Amino acid sequence: MKAIVCTKYGPPDVLQLEEVAKPTPRDNEILVKVHATTVSAGDVRMRSFTVPFWEWLPARIYLGLRKPKRAILGMQLAGEIEAVGKDVKLFKKCDQVFASCGLDFGAHAEYKCLPEVGVVEIKPANMTYGEAAAVPTGGIGALHVLRKGNIQNGQKVIIYGASGSVGTFAVQLAKHFGAEVTGVCSTTNLELVKSLGADKVVDYAKEDFTKSGELYDCIFDAVGKVSKSKCKKALTPNGTFVSIHKVTYKESAEDLIFLKELIEAGKIKSVIDRRYPLEQIAEAHRYVEKGHKMGNVVITLENSNKT
Ligand SMILES: NC(=O)c1ccc[n+]([C@@H]2O[C@H](COP(=O)([O-])OP(=O)(O)OC[C@H]3O[C@@H](n4cnc5c(N)ncnc54)[C@H](OP(=O)(O)O)[C@@H]3O)[C@@H](O)[C@H]2O)c1
Repeated sequence: MKAIVCTKYGPPDVLQLEEVAKPTPRDNEILVKVHATTVSAGDVRMRSFTVPFWEWLPARIYLGLRKPKRAILGMQLAGEIEAVGKDVKLFKKCDQVFASCGLDFGAHAEYKCLPEVGVVEIKPANMTYGEAAAVPTGGIGALHVLRKGNIQNGQKVIIYGASGSVGTFAVQLAKHFGAEVTGVCSTTNLELVKSLGADKVVDYAKEDFTKSGELYDCIFDAVGKVSKSKCKKALTPNGTFVSIHKVTYKESAEDLIFLKELIEAGKIKSVIDRRYPLEQIAEAHRYVEKGHKMGNVVITLENSNKT
């Protein structure tokens, strides 16, 4: 099968299209023919090995000393099940699924094996493969951070970095939880963030929300670009600051079911900035690396006409 192999840590050119062995599902695994995947901030960080210096050694030991142990990147996917192991009960051949591969990576390939009890579910009926592939990691991340912030109906929430993958889901989910939502983004993305349901938008290039005098019950940093200490003066006395970079959580299939039900009810959607074919994945990395993608960057696989 075709796969994008990360031959060493470095710039996007280290990514090579190679022919590698097609995986065979174990007894408890499904084999997914990947129709769409994404290039996420996590893929870029893994390829370029961008970690704080104090995490350098433990991260190299965990991820691979000279090159990534998991040579095929890609943290999420949507596709069709081509085969199932003999013990698989939850899925069958031809099921259309979406999934997070998490830190196992491996979605930047024509096929990927996943445990049937992994973070995998039947794809939302009203989404294309490309739209569905963009949901798991950003959607689950936003969900867990909002839960950590303990958002209550009617509370004032501000999403800092409302136009990224995590941010676009966070705006929609916070609205679903009944919050009054303010989204912080650049001028270019004001209309997008409003269209996702934000009650107010703040242009970070023109206004510092911490100096406006407005107080929030929850400040959610969705891109790791604002500090807790700076935000303190914009919080109500019992207000909370939560950050995608500080919350630890375990992704689950239940999270995907939760998101899928909201998607099928028309409450949330994925935002897609650009689409690239698998062969142009280095270009996609260059774009995502700039740090200004709007929502998600989708990779479409050859022979897929439904992305
Ligand atoms: N994506 C996931 O699935 C996922 C899951 C878990 C954790 N994370 C982590 O969460 C972080 C965010 O990831 P992401 O994929 O959502 O987005 P990202 O690619 O890291 O960031 C892109 C967005 O950040 C906005 N941005 C850049 N500088 C900003 C600033 N100074 N103030 C406000 N917004 C700014 C950009 O909007 P402008 O162009 O308008 O500046 C753009 O829309 C990453 O560190 C990632 O590793 C991501």
